[in-house]
Amino acid sequence: MTSRPILTTESGAPVADNQNSASAGPGGPLLIQDQQLIEKLARFNRERIPERVVHARGAGAYGYLEVTDDVTSYTHAAFLSEVGKRTEVFLRFSTVADSLGGADAVRDPRGFAVKFYTEEGNYDLVGNNTPVFFIKDPLKFPDFIHSQKRDPFTGVQEPDNVWDFWSHSPEATHQVTWLMGDRGIPASYRHMDGFGSHTYLWVNAEGRAHWVKYHFKTDQGIRCLTSEEAQELAGRDANSHQQDLHRAIERGMFPSWTMYVQLMPVEDAAAYRFNPFDLTKVWPHADHPRVRVGRLVLNRNPENIFAEVEQAAFSPNNFVPGIGPSPDKMLQGRLFAYGDAHRYRLGVNHTQLPVNAPHAAADNYGRDGAMRFDGNRGRAKNYEPNSFGGPAETGRPLATGYEVAGLVGTHEPVAHREDDDFVQAGNLYRLMDPAAQARLVANIAGGLAKVSDDAIVERAIGHFHAADPAYGHQVETAVKELRG
Ligand code: HEM
Repeated sequence: MTSRPILTTESGAPVADNQNSASAGPGGPLLIQDQQLIEKLARFNRERIPERVVHARGAGAYGYLEVTDDVTSYTHAAFLSEVGKRTEVFLRFSTVADSLGGADAVRDPRGFAVKFYTEEGNYDLVGNNTPVFFIKDPLKFPDFIHSQKRDPFTGVQEPDNVWDFWSHSPEATHQVTWLMGDRGIPASYRHMDGFGSHTYLWVNAEGRAHWVKYHFKTDQGIRCLTSEEAQELAGRDANSHQQDLHRAIERGMFPSWTMYVQLMPVEDAAAYRFNPFDLTKVWPHADHPRVRVGRLVLNRNPENIFAEVEQAAFSPNNFVPGIGPSPDKMLQGRLFAYGDAHRYRLGVNHTQLPVNAPHAAADNYGRDGAMRFDGNRGRAKNYEPNSFGGPAETGRPLATGYEVAGLVGTHEPVAHREDDDFVQAGNLYRLMDPAAQARLVANIAGGLAKVSDDAIVERAIGHFHAADPAYGHQVETAVKELRG
C-alpha cells in the first residue's frame, strides 16, 4: 500500500475507482448511481465564473509597502503613519480590452490595482499605468468599452468602432496620444509605472485636507515594445507578461516601485488652471512636485491563480481613515461599479475569500447570502443599535467634507482657465523628439487607415490638428499614404 492520502468524493467518502465508470456489466450503459462520475462531470461544468467585464486578463503578486518618508502632515492613514512601517499588499496587473483568452503584448493600457491590507481595513487603489483616461463621465464608459472590445457581428476588435468612439470623444485625444506613443506597449508588468490616475482626498489628524494624485515609478526602469516587437511576441507567447512577473519573483528578482504623491491644498482647487478633477488631465509636476511616500515591493507569487487572482476583488470605494474620494465624476461612477461587479461575479460574501479578507478585524451586521462560510457571526445580534455589546460606529468620518454648490441636473464638465480637450495632448506631442513623434503618427495612421468611413477619419484627424497643427498634418499625410 502507498502512503498517499485517500481520494474522496466532495462529501468525504472514499473513492474505490477513479479510472472506470460504473456500468451495467462490462459493456453496458453507465449508472446514475455512480456518484464519483456524476459529481466530477457536474463540478467541471461549473468551474468558470464570469470573467471581469474589463481587465479580464491579468497577473497578481503579494508584497509590501514600506513607508520611507514622513507624510503625517498630509494624512492620518495608519498604514502611512511611520517611516519604516510595512503593510502587506496584493497587486494585480491586467490588460483592459481583450477577454481572458487574449494576449499580453498588446497596445492597451495596463491595470495597476493595489490592495493594502492595513490595520484599519483594506485600502484599494485601482489604477492604471497611465496618468489619464479616455473619458471624463462614467455615463460614457459602457459605450467606450463596447467600442474597444469585440464587435457583435465580426467577433473581433474593429478599427471602425475604436476610432468612431474616439472621433466622437475629443476628450480622449490626450490618452490616445499616450497610448499610441512609445509607452503604449510595456515590455513587461515590471517595467512600467502605476498611477492612481484620479484625484483623491488626504486628510491629516488636524483635519487639514489636500487633493492627491498617486504615482508609482518603476525601479526596474521603463521598457516598452514597438508595435512590430509586440506583434511578434504576442504571436509567440500570449502569456509573456504574466510569465515574466511569475518567473522574476520565483527567482528572487523582486520588482519594486517608488510611491509618490502630488498634493494640492483643497482651497487651491477652484483657481487651478486645469480642473483638478478632470481625469483626462495631469497636474504638471512644475505646478505640483512629487513627494515621496514609500517603496512597494512584490515578493511572493500566489499559490493558486483562480483562488487569488481570478477571485481578487478591488474596489475604489474601499477607503481607510485619512483618505477619501474627490468629486471626479469618473471616480464617483467607479465607487458604485466595482462592488456591484463583485457581487455579480463572486457573490455578496466575496470579502470573506482569503485574498479579499481584511487583515484587520472586521465586524458588522451584514449576514447570510450565498456561500457564507465564516459561521455567520454565530448567535451575535444581527441589528444595530443593540443593547448586547455589538460593534458600534466611531462617529469619526474617514475624511472631512468639502463645499459643493449649484443646481441638480446633467452638466457639462467644469472648465477652468486653461482647459480644453486638446491642450495637454499637444503638450505631450511636443515633448516627444521627432523620431518618437514619427512612431506615434505611424501607430495612429496604421489604425485610422483601416477605418471604412471617411467622416470618422476626418473627425479623428481634426482632433490631432487641434492638439497641434503639425501633429494633425503628419497624421493626415500618413493616413493618405497608407490609403493610397
Ligand atoms: C467610469 C469608469 C469605469 C467603470 C464603470 C469601470 C468599471 C470596471 C469594472 C466593472 C471592472 C471589473 C471589476 C471586477 O469584476 O472585479 C473594472 C476593472 C478594472 N478597472 Fe475599471 N472602470 C472604469 C474606469 C477605470 C479607470 C479610470 C481605471 C484606472 C485609472 C480603471 C482601472 C481598472 C482596473 C485596474 C481593473 C481591474 C481590477 C482587477 O485587477 O481586478 N477603471 N472596471
